[in-house]
Amino acid sequence: MNTALDAARMLHYRGAMETRDYSPIDRLLIGVDHAMRTVFGVPVTTDRDNPSEGCAEGAMEDAERRVAAGLMRVNHSGEVAAQALYQGQALTAKLPEVRGSMERAALEENDHLAWCERRLKELDSRTSVLNPLWYAGSYAIGAAAGIAGDRWSLGFVAETEHQVIRHLDEHLKRIPTQDARSRAILTQMKEDEAHHATLALEAGGAALPAPVKLLMRLTSKVMTKTAFWI
Ligand SMILES: [Fe+2]
Ligand SMILES: [Fe+2]
Repeated sequence: MNTALDAARMLHYRGAMETRDYSPIDRLLIGVDHAMRTVFGVPVTTDRDNPSEGCAEGAMEDAERRVAAGLMRVNHSGEVAAQALYQGQALTAKLPEVRGSMERAALEENDHLAWCERRLKELDSRTSVLNPLWYAGSYAIGAAAGIAGDRWSLGFVAETEHQVIRHLDEHLKRIPTQDARSRAILTQMKEDEAHHATLALEAGGAALPAPVKLLMRLTSKVMTKTAFWI
């Protein structure tokens, strides 16, 4: 449940995307605040319930628990990167309505971030120590996509989401079957990402060239392989 402070912050972010008189410096400072909150603090979420509520904790061997924690750490880092991509794009997007839809999507990604982080704690594990690095790199990529233009930026969101869905499918196969709590989170995330991809395409997202898609897959491979362990 959000506190009154969170509600105030959410209004602040909504205000930031709906009013168009914020200077580049204002937006940069809002971006820095967002980055700190994503990597080190408690991000602003929507008021949706955690999908794992009501799922019993499954009995797992130590090895199974480690696999579940490794996969949830990868997903958490993926959400840190998603935050940075969306914020980077929001900084450079040319059409205000595109900037708004990017920031709304980022708020929904915060739910994913919070759910994964809580699940990692339940599994007696931790988030990736490299999260600041994933954030910085993804922010730069997001900003570049925004500079390339809104059609490309939206196409980039759609492709990112499609690749995340493939990762989530793979994780749902690998995660121990008795880990119903993690599975409930990943299943809801998959549904949300598909919705984000559809929104981006409907808003005019362009299909990316094959080499760009390949480069994105290679980059995410580095992150997923590393974040599983550290
Ligand atoms: Fe997400
Ligand atoms: Fe998403």
